[in-house]
Amino acid sequence: MEPNGKGPMLTRRQQLAGIAGGLVMGALPSRLDAAGDEPLKDLAAQKGVLFGTAISAGRSSPMADPGYGALVARECAVVVPENEMKVYVLGNDPQALNFGPADRIATFAQDHRMKLRGHTLLWNYGKYISPALAQMVEATGAEKWLRAYIAKVAGHFGDRIYSWDVINETIDPKTGEVRGTVFDKALGFDVFKIAYETAREHAPHAQRVYNDYMSWEVGNETHRAGVLRLLARFRKENVPVDALGIQSHLGNDGSHSRVQRAEWKRFLDEVVAMGYRLLITEFDINDREMPRDVARRDAQTAAVAKSYLDQMLAYPQLDQLLCWGLWDKHSWLNGFAPRADGLPQRPLPYDDELKPKPMRAAIADALRAAPVRKGIA
Ligand code: XIL
Repeated sequence: MEPNGKGPMLTRRQQLAGIAGGLVMGALPSRLDAAGDEPLKDLAAQKGVLFGTAISAGRSSPMADPGYGALVARECAVVVPENEMKVYVLGNDPQALNFGPADRIATFAQDHRMKLRGHTLLWNYGKYISPALAQMVEATGAEKWLRAYIAKVAGHFGDRIYSWDVINETIDPKTGEVRGTVFDKALGFDVFKIAYETAREHAPHAQRVYNDYMSWEVGNETHRAGVLRLLARFRKENVPVDALGIQSHLGNDGSHSRVQRAEWKRFLDEVVAMGYRLLITEFDINDREMPRDVARRDAQTAAVAKSYLDQMLAYPQLDQLLCWGLWDKHSWLNGFAPRADGLPQRPLPYDDELKPKPMRAAIADALRAAPVRKGIA
């Protein structure tokens, strides 16, 4: 053992060889990661925070790529499926759901002693509700379909899931109102009661989250106001919601200026004053508006990450930090928001050769600077 008690240091070459060769866990001393640093999950745990990432079950999964698998296992205490628990993967018929891909993720989590988040029981956004689903919901009756679907999905995973995004993105950012889907058109506000109460019934131990993408950025004022009204109404009508999931897909406005920080603080203060806990559920930074030059781009995303996470981690109510992927290679942003210059996006803490980027250091620094809290773990 070295005097620092961390075990022998590996050279950078040894560390990278370990990753590239797909040497699974244990190839590196457990207190060190690829950056010669403590794993993010350990830095987070020291502060009462769970650190993790979204993963998928397909071609880009940590199960298919041992190097990525080793990285996820070393850095993360929690994983969440990127798509595999959504209705468009599970299927429209509550009596015949396809749990295969989600179960593979659940097994990966269990094998590596990670926690599992659930995302999402109802993505109440028309864009993600197929005509076939809408038709089935209308034919069955919205309440009947929703109760049956949530009962099956929450019941299937049971206590393997400690925290569920019960409803996702129900507020229209342009109007601040509930979007107007086949569900809420039929049920009005009862859609929320039914979803959260059914989740409580079938997964009583799990935290129940409302998840959305309002942010501190300019242009989000109406979205923030709409989410606050929704959260207030949950309280008024006793809808059992525990926490606000703040997706944190940042980057449309790279500045995180003092004025915006103050606006965001007002929002967060109101949320916690209503008794909600907070979590960051889908952190990444869209670099579309940032320079071509990789070093400058990486410095900018790291600076935004540090500034934002410092502000967020100052709240003792915030106890989970999940990235939407751990490395740039398969980020959804390359499809959703490609750069005009055709270069790949660099939104995440590791690059597409699994090398840590300045954003990884920014996350570590923010965690080191954060106060200790009593977390969910
Ligand atoms: C995205 C996935 O990353 C993509 O693979 C998929 O094509 C669309 O959904 N907000 C959410 C996530 O709540 O579920 C979304 O995930 C990203 C935005």
